[in-house]
Amino acid sequence: MGGVPQGSRDGGNPLRQLSLDQLRRRTSHKWREYPDDVLPLFVAEMDVPLAEPVARAITAAVALGDTGYVVGEAFPRALAEFARTRWGWDELAVDRTVLMPDVMHGVVEAVRLVTGPGDAVVVNCPVYPPFYTFVAHAGRRILEAPLGADLRLDLDRLRDVFRQARAGGRAAAYLLCSPHNPTGTLHTADELAAVAELAGRYGVRVVADEIHAPVVARDARFVPYLSVPGTEDGLSLMSASKGWNLAALRGALALAGPAAAADLARVPFEVSESTSHLGVIAQTAAYRDGGPWLDALLSGLDDNRRLLAELLAEHLPAIRYRPGQATYLAWLDCRALGLGDDPAAVFLDRGRVALNPGPTFGTGGAGHVRLNLATAPEIVTEAVRRMAAAVT
Ligand SMILES: Cc1ncc(COP(=O)(O)O)c(C=O)c1O
Repeated sequence: MGGVPQGSRDGGNPLRQLSLDQLRRRTSHKWREYPDDVLPLFVAEMDVPLAEPVARAITAAVALGDTGYVVGEAFPRALAEFARTRWGWDELAVDRTVLMPDVMHGVVEAVRLVTGPGDAVVVNCPVYPPFYTFVAHAGRRILEAPLGADLRLDLDRLRDVFRQARAGGRAAAYLLCSPHNPTGTLHTADELAAVAELAGRYGVRVVADEIHAPVVARDARFVPYLSVPGTEDGLSLMSASKGWNLAALRGALALAGPAAAADLARVPFEVSESTSHLGVIAQTAAYRDGGPWLDALLSGLDDNRRLLAELLAEHLPAIRYRPGQATYLAWLDCRALGLGDDPAAVFLDRGRVALNPGPTFGTGGAGHVRLNLATAPEIVTEAVRRMAAAVT
């Protein structure tokens, strides 16, 4: 394949620093699920080297044999400082945070705190597939409140589904994905205030999964759910995992608004104690010292969103792509191509490019694919070339 990055440095853009040969030596899910003739743009891993401050912190810990159990508040303090400088939120209360092994286990714990077995958890489909499987595993029932045609929250639908969720006086939770995976939708302060108002009115408890919060367009700003008035009984999950590609170094924080502090205090020690000390070292370094690296990444992602839109307009104009303002994921509406419910199967089979199948994201996912933009522009270009070749 011509034109792929050869490990050259490009103005510090982390997406341009590894060659395809280097990436293929990786042993993670993204690079081992498919044979070498497949270009993988599916699972949410980034094709970047580890940010230097994170690599230094981890290397130092390994050199010292600092691989015991986790303790201390360095992680929430680093996040609080990051929240202050990045999002202008200076009220992240360190004493209302609890360590979680990772975000999805944090989501499950949070949902367990505010609902009972068989209660409803509302999600905005299409949405990150593990929302369905983890919630089911926790013995709760999913209720779908689809996004609107503009891929934004549909507050009228949400109100109807909240009513349904609370039928018979049962407890209910709303698992808000903010920013939204797979569409990249960045919720505004007004939308979040409206969510809080509805949740308060119907007695639905909000659990915000904010794992993608650091990954927004350079000209956009993420609004933390708990920074919005009316969210006092809300819960949130945050992690540096997506922003700095730390899935292997697991770690997350659960955050509570003031009126949810007593709920958060019920998280059993066994859960937070399961968090990896090395993971927490990585998370702390990322939030504390990883800002410049993140900025370089975000510029690269802005370029890739623009590039993908141009490439699709030129080579696959039937695909509808509405670039979001957040995440490194692109949600492609392929229905006009006439490839059936699962176009990803066609792109894999005929084009040798791996994307996430839309139907796994719930109602509204049929005829769509999710493409991972956190890679070199040359790889994005080659992926679109292969997709176009697959349908001509
Ligand atoms: C919205 C969302 N939540 C959670 C996760 C996974 O987080 P973790 O690996 O910390 O469980 C992802 C991964 O892509 C995600 O997109």
